[in-house]
Amino acid sequence: MIKIKQKSDLNESEVTPEAIYHKRREFLKYGSMLSSALILNTVSSRLQASVDVTGYKQGVITLDEELTPFKDSTRYNNFYEFGTDKSDPARNAKDFDTSNWSIEVSGACEKKGEFMLEDILQGMDIEERIYRLRCVEAWSMVIPWLGVPLGKVLQTFKPTSSAKYVAFETLHDPTRMPGQQRAVLDWPYVEGLRIDEAMHPLTLLAVGMYGKTMPNQNGAPVRLVIPWKYGFKSIKSIVRIKFTDREPPTTWNLSSPREYGFYSNVNPEVDHPRWSQARERRIGEFFKRETLMFNGYAEEVASLYSGMDLKKFY
Ligand code: MTE
Repeated sequence: MIKIKQKSDLNESEVTPEAIYHKRREFLKYGSMLSSALILNTVSSRLQASVDVTGYKQGVITLDEELTPFKDSTRYNNFYEFGTDKSDPARNAKDFDTSNWSIEVSGACEKKGEFMLEDILQGMDIEERIYRLRCVEAWSMVIPWLGVPLGKVLQTFKPTSSAKYVAFETLHDPTRMPGQQRAVLDWPYVEGLRIDEAMHPLTLLAVGMYGKTMPNQNGAPVRLVIPWKYGFKSIKSIVRIKFTDREPPTTWNLSSPREYGFYSNVNPEVDHPRWSQARERRIGEFFKRETLMFNGYAEEVASLYSGMDLKKFY
């Protein structure tokens, strides 16, 4: 089961201001293009970059809410392939090599095959988008992601009319992902979206955050970000994409169908069987805040579900 934060939670003394990110923004704004490019390259290579995010478009989607400090969003993670404690992924994914990453594309599309990630992203603008991330465990963060709209990428594979859903799969390699040596989940981690959800302009294929290449513990080199759904839909380290005419299986639904549905839209009115979803704790804050319908993105996405009983399709 997805665990509820407890004593592994961050305490206040570990929470630092988001200085790194803001300093970098100021620097990029006022520094020379050349020196900022050099610095970015140094940072990326230390992080074993396989995706070059330099030159991303700043502030494509912003949010008037304080960013979660980088330190917290990279040390308080769910990535069971690297351990089930919140602090495990940062430690155990440190040496995960994501270079030469490829993705296999199959199913109901014209362009199938195995593609290098850099070729998939070739010529696409990397955008900075600040989104809320709401975990089903009732904590949340605000993260400046870098990525490309998933729909734009999917269109390049020319899905056919029988592509009603898209299925995603994480790498399965217990030698590189030590958490997979234990049967805590049915590996590989799999997820899926309805095709209109996948094509929605908010759905992001993310390759970085806070102006940098994606840290390993956050799903390097490439993950989904679907801001109106619970965080577990945002599958990490993707190696397979399949267009299909059937609703694909999803890991947490397989693990506990009564608790985790296929849709998993953030909904303060539909409680998890073991806890309320009405409120959440923003990491770094003391008091809980109200959870917003569709995580605050109702205006953009509610129409995708018109006529559906969201208590039934949870
Ligand atoms: N993807 C894979 N492959 N394995 C996981 O364990 N955890 C999910 C999601 N994607 C998970 C995953 C959950 S429960 C959440 S809340 C988010 O990733 C957490 O993303 P973050 O660690 O970047 O905050």
